[in-house]
Amino acid sequence: MNTIEKFNDNVMHTYGRYDVVLEKGSERTCVDENGKEYIDFGSGIGTNSLGFCDEDWSEAVCKQVKSIQHTSNYYYTKVQADFAEKLCKATGYSKVFFGNSGAEANECAIKLARKYSFDKYGKGRHNIVTLVNSFHGRTLSTLAATGQDVFHNYFFPFPEGFVYANANDKADLESKLDGACAVMMEFVQGEGGVNCLDKDFVDFVFDICAKKDILVIADEVQTGVGRTGKFLASEHFGVHPDITTLAKGLAGGVPVGACLADEKCAEVLTKGTHGSTFGGNPIACAGGNVVADKVTAPGFLDEVTAKGEYFREKLLALDEVESVSGIGLMIGIKLKTMNAADVAAKALEKGLLILTAKEKVRLLPPLNITYDEIDRGLDILKSILKG
Ligand SMILES: Cc1ncc(COP(=O)(O)O)c(C=O)c1O
Repeated sequence: MNTIEKFNDNVMHTYGRYDVVLEKGSERTCVDENGKEYIDFGSGIGTNSLGFCDEDWSEAVCKQVKSIQHTSNYYYTKVQADFAEKLCKATGYSKVFFGNSGAEANECAIKLARKYSFDKYGKGRHNIVTLVNSFHGRTLSTLAATGQDVFHNYFFPFPEGFVYANANDKADLESKLDGACAVMMEFVQGEGGVNCLDKDFVDFVFDICAKKDILVIADEVQTGVGRTGKFLASEHFGVHPDITTLAKGLAGGVPVGACLADEKCAEVLTKGTHGSTFGGNPIACAGGNVVADKVTAPGFLDEVTAKGEYFREKLLALDEVESVSGIGLMIGIKLKTMNAADVAAKALEKGLLILTAKEKVRLLPPLNITYDEIDRGLDILKSILKG
């Protein structure tokens, strides 16, 4: 039985997968079981931030595996302390809670916001306002938080206390704030189609939330850790949310999630109120330390910005491209006539991994991609978009 048959016989069919078995990778290229090579413009949906098996990253992860792979959270580890310190320093937050995924990071943020409000005001002020077209994860609460009807199916009853406001609509948002303890949003909606929030709307949210003591939660699971050319996308907007969640690229491809809180709410989650067996796992933290060191090294983020601009310039020169959205190396491409899913399938055939988001082609290349790799990938994309 071949791998795909074995896989499909034994793994739940929750994804529409391509018929490709990826076997190994190095730098920004991976190889399938038949030896065919693919340039990576997707980084495992924004996760392999340093490409495949970066040397320093692999060495740190392997060293950690051979040193101590796991301890319960009843003990301390240096590697978690180091990672937490790096993250707090890079982001200006007071404290972090580590989980294992974006959904878990958001669960932590939701619990934190509700307890912040409960501790101060008692019951009843528990709503989390999220934005229409957002995506916050696949657990029951984060599905409920996700502002897309298509996700509110089958799994009833969903947790209550989630209210949706239209993105960039100040009046609508304001009208939804009664009974709210937090507003949760992505600065650039990733799964929703690489849509940026307006600066004006963001400023409004921060002002009104500050006045009403409603926390602002930034879901930076996709936008964070250098993806947009800043360590956090919030820096583009000149704001500092009370809580920021991270995952995906945070540890370069080992599972991790982080919920960062500023001093106003960093002590809300107390002993016994939250936890995770694997959260802060030493292997994940070892990977995270390398990512944090590289992304914060002088010049790294400027390179991300420059490469993002390079992509935009080349893409906008193509006739089939109607517009390009996103910031830095988070890129959404609206096409004039072609279907994004068809383009992604053709790209795969020709040796390029790309993504889609709603009706757009989406690119989330590894942050350390080279110009040569960009050119080689874009040549493939160009050959497809020419028809
Ligand atoms: C903005 C955002 N939040 C949360 C999630 C969920 O992350 P995970 O799949 O790691 O649970 C995603 C995943 O795509 C995301 O893009």
